Amino acid sequence: MKKSLSLLSVLLFSLAMLVGISQATDKGPPEMILKSTIDPAKKTKLAFFPHAQHQEAFDCKTCHHTKDADGKPVPYREDQKKEKCESCHNTKAGIDEKLNTFKKAAHARCKACHLELKKAGKDAGPTKCKGCHKKDLK
Ligand code: HEC
Ligand code: HEC
Ligand code: HEC
Ligand code: HEC
Repeated sequence: MKKSLSLLSVLLFSLAMLVGISQATDKGPPEMILKSTIDPAKKTKLAFFPHAQHQEAFDCKTCHHTKDADGKPVPYREDQKKEKCESCHNTKAGIDEKLNTFKKAAHARCKACHLELKKAGKDAGPTKCKGCHKKDLK
């Protein structure tokens, strides 16, 4: 009895590890067209985001975080599911007004990094509206 129980727990543990690993390696789509679904602007502006290209250059936690019990952001751990930015960054979630839409959170992350790199004279992503809000996106 004891033996089969410990065998069972070894099996369960391995299963949990496998599930953990398969979640950790979910890299999400290589390219995305981002848009707000909770707080859309009057005129929707779709944004192009080459995810895989960014994954080559930066850690997941540069962009992905979750929050702790006190509502403070914490860098994402490998075993965590990556939630949509807007699931926390929206006008109903009680988050700071400076960050309470997808637009604000995205501009504060995406645009800010591009601007910083550009200032430092490094290869940077686009800083002009059209560089992300490309015209022909659908
Ligand atoms: C580095 C990329 C980037 C740049 C540059 C950028 N944006 Fe954005 N913007 C985004 C992302 C990502 C979102 C969030 C997804 C969305 O709503 O399209 C967003 C959201 C928005 C929204 C809300 C759209 C909606 O449907 O709710 C507006 C309006 C907007 N941006 C305007 C601008 C303007 C105007 C500029 C130039 C002054 C600009 N953005 C520059 C990436 C960018
Ligand atoms: C430069 C920023 C950035 C980096 C770096 C980044 N991601 Fe993302 N990722 C995003 C954004 C933005 C989204 C879209 C979130 C949304 O739709 O609200 C996303 C979406 C995802 C999704 C899909 C979530 C869903 O359910 O739609 C997964 C999975 C994911 N990322 C995994 C990763 C992993 C793993 C890494 C590291 C290897 C990583 N990302 C690195 C910005 C980034
Ligand atoms: C589980 C909830 C949650 C998710 C999901 C989430 N955030 Fe946040 N985020 C927060 C909280 C909470 C704060 C802190 C707000 C404050 O300081 O008042 C924050 C802060 C930020 C900040 C400002 C502080 C900093 O780290 O620079 C940015 C920018 C940001 N988030 C962008 C994003 C982007 C982009 C995504 C999606 C890739 C995302 N967040 C996903 C909860 C979340
Ligand atoms: C930590 C820094 C950082 C963050 C955060 C970041 N980017 Fe970038 N982005 C870059 C760099 C670096 C490049 C590549 C420049 C190059 O290779 O010439 C880039 C390139 C791009 C390009 C141009 C791709 C091409 O092939 O022309 C787009 C569009 C873009 N980023 C959109 C976004 C959006 C949208 C977000 C937020 C969801 C974002 N970026 C977040 C650093 C960042």
